Amino acid sequence: MQTHYQSLAAWTLLVLGHVAEGAAKNEQQILRSGGVVVDATSKMADKVRNELKHAEIIPTVIDDFLPALELHASWSSKQQASLGNALKPEKLQDAPSVTLHDASESSRLCTSRVSYVITLTDPDAPSRDDPKWSEMCHWIATGVSASATANRNAAQCLSPAPSDLDDVMPYKAPGPPEKTGKHRYVFIAFAAENGTTERLYPSKPADRQHWGYDTDDGETKGVRDWARENGLVPVAANFIYAKNKKQ
Ligand SMILES: *[C@@H]1O[C@H](CO)[C@@H](O)[C@H](O)[C@H]1NC(C)=O
Repeated sequence: MQTHYQSLAAWTLLVLGHVAEGAAKNEQQILRSGGVVVDATSKMADKVRNELKHAEIIPTVIDDFLPALELHASWSSKQQASLGNALKPEKLQDAPSVTLHDASESSRLCTSRVSYVITLTDPDAPSRDDPKWSEMCHWIATGVSASATANRNAAQCLSPAPSDLDDVMPYKAPGPPEKTGKHRYVFIAFAAENGTTERLYPSKPADRQHWGYDTDDGETKGVRDWARENGLVPVAANFIYAKNKKQ
C-alpha cells in the first residue's frame, strides 16, 4: 500500500516538475508538496477508491492507490463505464473511447504531455467463483496527453479517438460465457513511474489468458504483474459489470 502512495507521489512530483528529495511522509504532505495542491484526496479520488475496494478490485487486481485522474470510457452515449454499472456485452463490441480528466483545481497534470497506457482486464474468467483463467487481458493501448495550450482551460487530458490510440494488445470485447455470473471488466490507466513524457512502448503479453504469464494451479496473474514489469503506476480506473444473458 505504502509503495503505491510513494510511487504515485514520486510520479506526481516528477510530472509537476517539483521533484523533491525525500518525499513527505504522509499523503497530505505528499499531495501538497511544492505548494501545488494535487487534489487527489478530492471526493472523486475517494469515491473511485471506495468503489474499487467495494468491488474487491483493490486489492485483487491492483494494489491500493489514489486516483489522480478520472477515467471515462464510453462505447456510445448510453453505454458508459460508471464505477460498477451493468452493461450488456452485445453493446460493447467496438473499443470504447477513453478520456482522462483532471479533477484537481489546478489541472496541472494535463499540461505536461504525459504518456498514458490504458488497459482493460477481466479478473473473473471464466467466473468470479472459479477464476482459473484470470486475469484475461482485453486491451492495452498507449496514448499521449494533449498539449498544454490546447487544454489549459479544459479539464481534459486525453481525448484520443480510438484510432489515435496505439494498440499493444487489440481490444477484445467482453464475452462472458453462459452461466458464469457477472464479470468485472476493469479499466486502469497507467503512467510511467519515472515520469517520462516520451511515448511508452509497454510489452505485449504472449497471451490474453493470465496476461501471458505461466501460473501454477489457481494462481492469478494479470495487469498488476505486467504493469510492475513495465515500470508503470496506476493513475486512474473505472469498471463495469457484464454477464451472459443465459444464467
Ligand atoms: C521510463 O520508464 C519507461 C516505462 O518503463 C521506459 O520506457 C523509459 O525508458 C524510462 N525512461 C528513463 C529515462 O528511465
